[in-house]
Amino acid sequence: MAFRTIIEPFRIQSVAPLRMTAPEQRRSAIEAAGYNLFGLHSDDVMIDLLTDSGTGAMSRDQWAAIQHGDESYAGSPSFEIFRDAVQGLFPFKHVIPTHQGRAAEKIIFTVLGGKGRTIPSNTHFDTTRANIEYTGAEAVDLVIAEGRDPANLHPFKGNMDVAALDAFLDRNAGRVPVVFVTITNNSGGGQPVSLANLRATHAVCRKHGVPLFLAACRFAENAWFIREREPGQHDRAVADIVRDMAALADGMTMSAKKDPMGNIGGWLALNDDALAEQCRNLLILTEGFPTYGGLAGRDLEALAQGLKEVVDHDYLRYRIRSTAYLGEALARSGIPVVQPIGGHAVYLDARALLPQIAPLQYPGQALAVALYEVGGVRGCEIGTVMFGRHPDGSEQPAALDLVRLAIPRRTYTQSHIDYVIEVCQEVAAAAGTLRGYRIVAEPRQLRHFTARFAPLA
Ligand code: F0G
Repeated sequence: MAFRTIIEPFRIQSVAPLRMTAPEQRRSAIEAAGYNLFGLHSDDVMIDLLTDSGTGAMSRDQWAAIQHGDESYAGSPSFEIFRDAVQGLFPFKHVIPTHQGRAAEKIIFTVLGGKGRTIPSNTHFDTTRANIEYTGAEAVDLVIAEGRDPANLHPFKGNMDVAALDAFLDRNAGRVPVVFVTITNNSGGGQPVSLANLRATHAVCRKHGVPLFLAACRFAENAWFIREREPGQHDRAVADIVRDMAALADGMTMSAKKDPMGNIGGWLALNDDALAEQCRNLLILTEGFPTYGGLAGRDLEALAQGLKEVVDHDYLRYRIRSTAYLGEALARSGIPVVQPIGGHAVYLDARALLPQIAPLQYPGQALAVALYEVGGVRGCEIGTVMFGRHPDGSEQPAALDLVRLAIPRRTYTQSHIDYVIEVCQEVAAAAGTLRGYRIVAEPRQLRHFTARFAPLA
């Protein structure tokens, strides 16, 4: 390429205001929220990196597709447009729309889960795990060892440990209704899974007669990493790599709030007729008729258009590069981040940055609050606050204490990100002065959403 600068492959056609706030305002806002970033009013946030889920900008052509939506209860042509777009990339026989990813999870695990069953994955996302466990089944993570080491530079840290999966399926014969692979591996740092690893996982599943499903929210980012990093893939179209991934699976769940560029949506897709019928029957109980499944016709059309845009190489080059731009700048400043930089987010290692704060005093929370107070940047603690409380009531440190800075799609410019880099540098320079937190109130489950904290003296 002739120039070093990779530009945003779009221009801005519609803007939303970003309210400037001062540190005093932010200190009182976060205090009022009990030092929980989920409790903030989003008007009080300047750069919102809480999640990349449903927070991206839709394109002009997606908004035009919204106008084209047909809101018929049954048999809407918008469903056909949606189904054809999904099958163009994921040629599964049955495509079942849902209002978001976890609704698809709820349906498939209601059918396949239950007491005595066990469901392995590279790493289950937390809603996936919760939906499995809710049925009484067990959720097991079998990512490769490199995937658990934040500093390891393996190019496909989301890969399944195929030998461990093979042994697991031997040990648990008859108890495993499905194997899942999450692409990219969100809980493991947004790390990709290689095509070779998917092929090997597919072969082990076939050997044991167990179906393989993809949890495919960030499929296009995963395919771009395959194109960039996997031998023999460099000259291929991302859409073809996606179809290769789909061909190795028997079905998928999707949160269309990520790579399909929607503000809402999801789907379940699969080949097995009898299983699809069971799923559609459950869909009608909670989501709606199978040609709209919890979405409006206009949403289905916006997603169909988003699926065309997300496999564009200029978009993906910009997307993956701009996430790496943030991560590499932080790493160069000496701020510890999970390596290599993932597709949708940069993960700061709060435990390494704040060694004076014990895990049970929540270093991730302390870092996330400081980023907000100093610069109005909202990230998300992924550590002991999120995972430390166990069903038996005990509390233990999580494996890692991270803060995720997730990048909404097509939403922030490079100067927004340069600002985030400065804020992180400022916080890191004063890292030694940060103190931990204690929890003053927490609910019985999923405490990170609503717990209230107080700073330690
Ligand atoms: N699977 C993965 C890998 C996810 O990252 C998510 C959501 C879901 C399933 C659930 O989808 O939100 O549409 O119901 N992840 C968001 C996040 C919430 O911030 O990472 P959903």
